[in-house]
Amino acid sequence: MERLVISGGTPLEGTVRVSGAKNGALPLLAATVLSEGRCVLQNVPDLKDIRTLAEILREVGLSVEKTAPNTYVTRLLSEENSVARYELVSQMRASIYLLGPLLAKRGEARVSLPGGCVIGLRPVDLHIKGLRALGAEIELEHGYIVARAPGGRLRGARMFLGGPNGSSVGATANVLMAACLADGKTIIEGAACEPEIGVLARFLNRMGATIEGIDTPRLVITGVPALRGARVTVPPDRIEAGTFMVAAAATGGDVRIEEAPLDHLGAVVAKLREAGVEVLEEDDGLVRVRRQGPLRPVNVTTLTYPGYPTDMQAQLVAMLTLADGISVVSEKIYPDRFMHCAELNRMGAQILKQAASAIVRGVPRLSGADVMASDLRAGAALVIAGLVAEGRTTVHRVYHIDRGYERIEEKFRGLGACIERLRGTPSTTLKRAA
Ligand code: EPZ
Repeated sequence: MERLVISGGTPLEGTVRVSGAKNGALPLLAATVLSEGRCVLQNVPDLKDIRTLAEILREVGLSVEKTAPNTYVTRLLSEENSVARYELVSQMRASIYLLGPLLAKRGEARVSLPGGCVIGLRPVDLHIKGLRALGAEIELEHGYIVARAPGGRLRGARMFLGGPNGSSVGATANVLMAACLADGKTIIEGAACEPEIGVLARFLNRMGATIEGIDTPRLVITGVPALRGARVTVPPDRIEAGTFMVAAAATGGDVRIEEAPLDHLGAVVAKLREAGVEVLEEDDGLVRVRRQGPLRPVNVTTLTYPGYPTDMQAQLVAMLTLADGISVVSEKIYPDRFMHCAELNRMGAQILKQAASAIVRGVPRLSGADVMASDLRAGAALVIAGLVAEGRTTVHRVYHIDRGYERIEEKFRGLGACIERLRGTPSTTLKRAA
């Protein structure tokens, strides 16, 4: 089992480059199912989740070739098999993005229900509601979503896709992709406005779709008979960029970030500045993040875009464990997304969980410990904590982190961190009582 071993206390300094966005690349790859032609995706991050989705695309009849380190080329070979198997879907929830494209392009789809994960139940009811609104007949059988379009075609419809916690990124992506090949006009009210949806919509339009209202909560799609091949460059990962910004702030460092999509990090930058962190946009386009004075406590609530992103919550909590006062961090997207708090408390943090909030009382220092990653953002938070803690921290179950961060230890080492990846079984095999 791989683990990251970190000796903390070194302020991060230097320049780091952000990779392509995981949550941008996944829907773009799924969208290639809709195309009759050749699609080229550039700046695709080299992550396990990407490789898993590429494997599923091959199983449903696409040729998926990695023609360069971060470039994928896809082509349709066969439409015989439209089943996304449990064995692969259970490894990567975003496989649900294949449901809409397979259904719209081929008239049928069988996609394993993704199941939940540690951050929450992760329901897909909005995906199903939206596709049913387009005329799909959908049954749940033996853990699979079995969908078919009567007569092989979906039909456009007006719908509201917002859920109990606001809009849904995944449901918006699924229904948007399906509507591109439906007969007639579709209006999606309550659509997610995350930047990844905008990138997906522009890619679909380059494939020949007709989508209006991009980057707004109201998408209007006029269905077309077929979509051609197209090219797309995956945008830089705003969450990875935010993670490095918080790590620079937490360690009291001075870091420059290449390709940081500042336009899509407004809420994160605002919170960091409120906490006493300097965030500067330099002439050469790099974003400079440094902190010299004490960290001030802040209150934050995660919201859908452009609010503070839930995917940046754990990282901020790790930083706030060292603030001069009490911070309250509330989750409106995933109320259970606080697994990192118990691990941070093992490092000397003082965090109290109250319903869907974490109350973080700042402490003078953290101390290194063995900790366990539970999901990719919690894992990133533990790395940040290890970078500032006194002594040695070992972060176990690094595979969680590798799902969303390309070569994380190399990037932090490039900023002066003392961090390495060890393989094999640690001397004391870490088993946490249930
Ligand atoms: C995407 O997940 C991201 N994953 C998540 O990132 C991110 O946390 C999430 O959006 C919110 O921004 C990918 O893009 C691959 P949602 P998704 O549907 O689409 C509820 C990471 O760390 N909901 O926007 O699954 C849901 O319970 C991952 O990179 C329903 O009620 O999230 C949640 O409260 C973690 N019914 C809220 O909506 C549904 O059918 C937002 O979920 C779907 C969602």
